[in-house]
Amino acid sequence: MASTGLAGRRVLLGVTGGIAAYKAAELVRRLGDAGAQVRVAMTENAARFVTPLTFQALSGNPVRLSLWDEHAEAAMGHIELARWAEDILIAPASADFLARLAHGLADDLLTTLCLASAAPVHVAPAMNQQMWANAATQANLALLRSRGVGVFGPAAGSQACGEVGSGRLLEPNELVEALANTHRPQTLAGRRVLISAGPTYEDIDPVRFLGNRSSGRMGFAIAAAAVEAGADVTLVAGPVHLPTPAGAQRIDVRSAREMHAAVMRAAESADVYVAAAAVGDFRPQEIAAHKIKKRGDGGMTLELTQNPDILADLAALPRRPLLVGFAAETEHVEAHARAKLERKGLDLVAANQVGGGLGFEADDNCLTLIDHDGTTHLPTASKRELARQLVDIVAQRLERRETGAARR
Ligand code: CTP
Repeated sequence: MASTGLAGRRVLLGVTGGIAAYKAAELVRRLGDAGAQVRVAMTENAARFVTPLTFQALSGNPVRLSLWDEHAEAAMGHIELARWAEDILIAPASADFLARLAHGLADDLLTTLCLASAAPVHVAPAMNQQMWANAATQANLALLRSRGVGVFGPAAGSQACGEVGSGRLLEPNELVEALANTHRPQTLAGRRVLISAGPTYEDIDPVRFLGNRSSGRMGFAIAAAAVEAGADVTLVAGPVHLPTPAGAQRIDVRSAREMHAAVMRAAESADVYVAAAAVGDFRPQEIAAHKIKKRGDGGMTLELTQNPDILADLAALPRRPLLVGFAAETEHVEAHARAKLERKGLDLVAANQVGGGLGFEADDNCLTLIDHDGTTHLPTASKRELARQLVDIVAQRLERRETGAARR
């Protein structure tokens, strides 16, 4: 788990009134596991869902509920707590709380703490999907974001109210990871990173296409990791069912030629291009205007023509970004990948074995990184973790390329 950034960190957890408050109890434990010191402040409504005693037992510290607690306020307890915090995380953050925070109210302990603290504030919204979609909530969120408040989630799925949609609190381990990520070194600050992800679909007729089994998860994880590392990220995505990583600019495409056009345009201002897409090498020579019908018992032959090679076209440009290719292979992984490095004129190839439960549709992956200096193995890990490691290596390569160019 990427929790090292939280070791010893003083985290004030604010819990507001919503059914998801029950998950905040588990969150206290997970923050503790990550090494954070946790104190909890609740709204009066949160205490209707979970008792302060639960949080007191889990955090090992007294829980604050009210601005008018005579005992705690004898020594200006809320100011002391506001100064103590190095991070403020509000989870769950209700629609009402977000509205009050956005408008700078200080009518209860938690909003007062947020105003009185210099610590970064992060909110993890949780509410009914209609409340989440409401223009007022979205406007409040936009205002909070513009002031630097971090927003974690929400996730989509089935809700306690019986509806399905966006508005679920992220899981405790996801929240811990999101908070830890805010402390990651900004190795790509000021860099423009262009990433392609997912498959391409080549239409045969109005109902059929040629595609492949790429899920897009590796490329999307790289986009998320690059955003975390401070990059300005453009993600060119083939047809996939994945949410856009927060902070990335997404361009949706379908065919290899659409992807080629979008990437070539965006590459003009990119420092690095990570080609994680599984681009279809061939497309039907013609797209039938109507659904192709069976003719008798005979088979059929589809005439294919070759698609442009995006990486090779970028490599031929006079001012080219750092080029990172992927090589998904079913055999002789390293040899094929090294051949691709040379043939396409790349700076780095990330190679992996696909098939037999590995690669495209799996959550975990392992990568072999190949460049002109040698080979580095990144052992099996989640695609998110691998993406972070790859992003760190890309940041080093960018720096090395610049210092090399400056010396020449
Ligand atoms: N790629 C590309 N344009 C294409 C095909 C592939 O930019 N038309 C990129 C992919 O995004 C990937 C790398 O090239 O980063 C390798 O893709 P892969 O399909 O493994 O290799 P190919 O070049 O198609 O070679 P082969 O099919 O012979 O393995």
